[in-house]
Amino acid sequence: MAKRFGVVGCGYVGTAVALHLRQQGYELTGTTTGPSRLAELCDLVDHPRILCAGDPGADFSVLDDLDGLLISMAPTTANNKEDQYRAVYGEAVTALVEALRRRPREQALHVSYLSSAGIYGDQSGAITTEQSPPDLSNTTNALLVQAENAVLDLNTPMIQTCVLRLGGIYGPGNDIPSFIRSASGQPVAKNGNHINAWVHLDDIVRGVDFALQLRLQGIYNLVDDLQLTRRELSNALCDDEGLPPVIWENHDRPGARVFNARVSNARLLQMGFSLRTRSMLEPVAAC
Ligand SMILES: NC(=O)c1ccc[n+]([C@@H]2O[C@H](COP(=O)([O-])OP(=O)(O)OC[C@H]3O[C@@H](n4cnc5c(N)ncnc54)[C@H](OP(=O)(O)O)[C@@H]3O)[C@@H](O)[C@H]2O)c1
Repeated sequence: MAKRFGVVGCGYVGTAVALHLRQQGYELTGTTTGPSRLAELCDLVDHPRILCAGDPGADFSVLDDLDGLLISMAPTTANNKEDQYRAVYGEAVTALVEALRRRPREQALHVSYLSSAGIYGDQSGAITTEQSPPDLSNTTNALLVQAENAVLDLNTPMIQTCVLRLGGIYGPGNDIPSFIRSASGQPVAKNGNHINAWVHLDDIVRGVDFALQLRLQGIYNLVDDLQLTRRELSNALCDDEGLPPVIWENHDRPGARVFNARVSNARLLQMGFSLRTRSMLEPVAAC
């Protein structure tokens, strides 16, 4: 019998994971928050469902009978960012966790929860591992960490949970190199001395599959090998095409959410995971 896998939040990442695992022979359930994308999901998964976690009438029966689950929720509306973040990483994650606790059938389940390496915040560019304390001075980071903890608290012999902290995502439909080059010669109101973390969409898909197969538990950074400042990265991308550099600021804007860390992927690599794309500056490794 096919193993059953669910994706809560078939957005950019969730869709790619669903597509991959269905090709691997899993029976897929996938969710979207409203009817507008349901037809799209019919082509993607075996069981398309509407689920808006956090809504009073949310139907969590989609979680019954699953062997594996990916939680890949993010705010999708641009208005009032703080409220949207609270709705998803506060209320929706809490509701989902409670529903998982109340699952009617005692059946082994592996859960991968997608979080962000952004929670490390300002580490002054230092090497940052899963052991490094997150930067909780920022309210968004504090909310994201609270959501991670809620999911990790689910861990029992029957439900194994892991958190994958992602870098900024690049890949098909999200051409970050072109986006950065499009700022060539122009001022950008961000600190060019800060180091960001990145990851290719395909490596996220492979990472979720890896976590499922190994039934990983705990926190893992899922980022590529690139540990450059914004300025170093944009210079490399612009030089490559003979373009003038992007003009970054050398200081933080007041109140800006800072991310400045050399995020290490060593823990996941030690478990046996390998990246296909080591950075957006390098060609993809052969399969
Ligand atoms: N994008 C990045 O660079 C980045 C970086 C680091 C971490 N991440 C993390 O990666 C994950 C996936 O990101 P993404 O780029 O794939 O996001 P996305 O394309 O915006 O998709 C988000 C999905 O979440 C669903 N959703 C929103 N609110 C929900 C709720 N209350 N209940 C259930 N589902 C809900 C959306 O439903 P609809 O289908 O109805 O829109 C959508 O399917 C997120 O956890 C995000 O924090 C992303």
